Amino acid sequence: MSNAELSNMLHETRSFEPPAELAAHANLTAEAYAEAKEDRLAFWGKQAERITWAEPFTEVLDWSDAPHSKWYVGGKLNAAYNCLDRHVENGLGDRVAYHFEAENGDQRDITYAELLAQVCQAANGLIELGVKTGDRVAIYMPMIPETVVAMLACARLGAPHTVIFAGFSAQSIEDRVKDCGVEVVITADGANRRGKASALKPTVDEAVAKCPGVRHVLVVKRTGQDVAWNDDLDLWWSDVVEHQSTEHQCEFFDAEHPLYIMYSSGTTGKPKGVLHTTGGYLVGVSYTHWAVFDLKADQDVFWTAADIGWVTGHSYIVYGPLANATTSVLYEGTPDTPHQGRWWEIISKYQVNILYCAPTAIRTFMKWGRQIPEKFDLSSLRLIGSVGEPINPEAYMWYREVIGGNNCPVVDTWWQTENGMILISPLPGVTAGKPGSAMTPLPGVTAAIYNEAGEPVDKGGAGYLVITEPWPAMLRTLWGDDDRYQNTYWSRFPGVYFSGDSAKLDEDGDYWLMGRVDDVINVSGHRMSTTEIESALVSHPMVAEAAVVGAADAMTGQSIEAFVILRESAKGGGDDVVAELRNHVAKVIGSIAKPRSIMVVPDLPKTRSGKIMRRLLKDVAEDREPGDSTTLADSSVMDLIQENLSSKPSDGG
Ligand code: WTA
Repeated sequence: MSNAELSNMLHETRSFEPPAELAAHANLTAEAYAEAKEDRLAFWGKQAERITWAEPFTEVLDWSDAPHSKWYVGGKLNAAYNCLDRHVENGLGDRVAYHFEAENGDQRDITYAELLAQVCQAANGLIELGVKTGDRVAIYMPMIPETVVAMLACARLGAPHTVIFAGFSAQSIEDRVKDCGVEVVITADGANRRGKASALKPTVDEAVAKCPGVRHVLVVKRTGQDVAWNDDLDLWWSDVVEHQSTEHQCEFFDAEHPLYIMYSSGTTGKPKGVLHTTGGYLVGVSYTHWAVFDLKADQDVFWTAADIGWVTGHSYIVYGPLANATTSVLYEGTPDTPHQGRWWEIISKYQVNILYCAPTAIRTFMKWGRQIPEKFDLSSLRLIGSVGEPINPEAYMWYREVIGGNNCPVVDTWWQTENGMILISPLPGVTAGKPGSAMTPLPGVTAAIYNEAGEPVDKGGAGYLVITEPWPAMLRTLWGDDDRYQNTYWSRFPGVYFSGDSAKLDEDGDYWLMGRVDDVINVSGHRMSTTEIESALVSHPMVAEAAVVGAADAMTGQSIEAFVILRESAKGGGDDVVAELRNHVAKVIGSIAKPRSIMVVPDLPKTRSGKIMRRLLKDVAEDREPGDSTTLADSSVMDLIQENLSSKPSDGG
């Protein structure tokens, strides 16, 4: 977002009271803030009653080994039991868990009883393949019910899953599989995307060829396309799963038993394996899903329009909604296939009441024009949410008016992969929302904004967003790298969790998120590491040096802009070089990491100590006069770069 837009945001004076009807029946009222403030742990103890414990916990939080938390000490539970069995036991077996809808016209309603039977079969199938409690299983799948089934089958066995977003490359799969020692990978032949069947298995094949630890690849038949087959590794899901018993007696695990690992981009090259455990995570997502979305499980149809391959999908397509016995929409496809009204058609078809999506999608819909959603009946919507990046006031207002019909609260929810659950958000029945502000920490969550010295800023101040006390769904560590866990999150300001985001407190004490303060950039709500993309670029033989920055982009929030110095031998290659490098990044990380433009430059701006001054490159990428360059080792570099760019634009397009 531009500085001008940011400063406008902070002078935002509009605010919208909750609709009276919603406020009158809201799940959580204003008292919750006071209650949590008075006794935070008692509050979290009470929220844990949402979950069925096979053995009760004896202590809400053990923080004696900070920054390692243990929540619900001594409690035993099974996440899959909480998401399925108990609802069926409570007579909700016929309730629809998912309205599955696919781009190619496939549609299927899956009830809780059906989902439970399928998860038991899959769990039995995994046992047959030798998967044991504690083993890690990788999942590289399209947005189909089997993905949820695979995750819950793993959870049922206490085998932590690591879901890898299906846009990632073979190299990314290989890195993750090796990092957490995966032996079984679950994938599909392909996915339906933009009217075509795209392949998934070849990417897994390429990855597992380099992972001797992988014993089996389980393949769901989705598109029916031809696939190469390795008899030593590959098994059809249907052959392994469908003949199994639909019953499986689950074991109950310690509250701190690992539930899943989700890799996320960090400031250094290597993605971090964020570890979530069972009890606290499930309490956290169940509570926030109920409170923030004001969920009425027996009435609402809920839709998180995100991919299961990211944390938003884990918490608000799978675990939160299922723990709460929700009916959700599960959609495989893009918003513009077969037409640009696809989402609105789905909302009117299933009478969706709550929609949760990313600002980048909203801005795309704005660009397509309001006449598209206006063709559909969206009157079933009663609450709409946003996640993943700051929502600019213009997009907020459009979302509120055109999609929400001016009578749905907009919940702008701030959180991170590491947080597991929403931490800062309006409460829909309580908060008067302001366009562009995530408003306040939820009851039970304690945040602050610190200045450089680690002192909390007052109203009107800005600084670093920290979470001052542990929360149930927090990450427990980074898989295999506890030092990095401590350094990344707990060392910048000792004793508190450092989010890596900057924020401002307005005069009312409400939070305005302003983006990352580290080398992480946010493209369409996806976290990308500039250093990871730089490493990918320099791994190409033509590249001598690379610098990557995020530039403000009206549609995607930020875009990836790269500057490279070519090796002597590669010079003179012209546009082919740029195209080749963009493809190379896609191959190393995944197509989501492709730089929008790659500028070939003669040199990079560096300080005397050799640090690249990305700030100046950002100025160039955002078409501004570069700022203060007095600390550069060689002050002529910026002139050289600009001359070079004006004489030879080398945009990869
Ligand atoms: C950004 C996504 C402003 C933020 C759930 C954070 C947001 C990163 C918001 C986490 C929001 C997320 N307003 N910024 N409502 N929500 N962010 O791990 O920079 O993919 O640090 O988790 O997204 O991204 P992640």
